[in-house]
Amino acid sequence: MSLLTINDLSKSYDKRVKALNQISFDVTEGECVGIVGESGSGKSTLARMLLGLETYKEGKILFNNQQIPPKNRSQVRQYRKDIQMIFQDATSTLNPKLPIWKSLIEPLDNFKEITPSFITEGISRKQVAEELLEMVGLEKEMADRYPGELSGGQKQRVSIARAISIEPSLLVCDEPTASLDVTVQVQILQLLEELQKKTNMTILFISHDIRAVTYLCEKMIVLKNGYIVDSFRLEELYQEERHSYTKALIKAAAIE
Ligand SMILES: Nc1ncnc2c1ncn2[C@@H]1O[C@H](COP(=O)(O)OP(=O)(O)OP(=O)(O)O)[C@@H](O)[C@H]1O
Ligand SMILES: [Mg+2]
Repeated sequence: MSLLTINDLSKSYDKRVKALNQISFDVTEGECVGIVGESGSGKSTLARMLLGLETYKEGKILFNNQQIPPKNRSQVRQYRKDIQMIFQDATSTLNPKLPIWKSLIEPLDNFKEITPSFITEGISRKQVAEELLEMVGLEKEMADRYPGELSGGQKQRVSIARAISIEPSLLVCDEPTASLDVTVQVQILQLLEELQKKTNMTILFISHDIRAVTYLCEKMIVLKNGYIVDSFRLEELYQEERHSYTKALIKAAAIE
């Protein structure tokens, strides 16, 4: 079943900048779809529109066959339970003044109507946070630490735990590994892969790094200057019919 359908979506910030041009694609439930493109190609614009953080006038975004409203904030709240996002910079998503466990349970406190499957009856809020830490491969002792006492990779794990705490059906990752060193990047990709397999959540993985996308995603969409120039399944990556820009990305990443 199609979870997300984007139809002829465009976005202009002003008359000169057209960040997205009539883009259309479909994401099926349980799929991991990669969006790859150079800086300024419109990737974050798309992510923000999906989260209802950016308005739009042209085109449609359908989530579970319902239109994500371009403006109405109260309706957007509905989607925020189902769509969660991980950003490049985990530091900005964690309040430096709160211990990790408090940041972790914030989404669950905001959506009290949700009882995730990993919560057993009678468990304290702090134990919920510890449970979440274990789900992303961190020691539960981290619960009492502050963001400033964690490494970049650990902070990104915490923000992943936070995002998955309310068991969203779609996880949008906007360059989640871009600020991490290579070995930690791989670990985060492995974690996302493992969580995706376990929970069958749908992932939209945005990156300028085609290697990361090939690692995690079974489908790829290539954005250039706000246009989708190519879209294919992973096994079609090396086919002759690939767009010249896709081929250039493959070459630059040395994964030929
Ligand atoms: N708030 C804004 N106001 C005006 N223009 C914007 C705004 N946000 C983005 N843009 C422009 O829209 C275009 C797409 O930007 P976007 O941030 O979506 O690109 P990106 O693919 O995420 O790039 P990067 O890889 O550097 O994160 C760029 O030309 C950018 O300058
Ligand atoms: Mg961006």
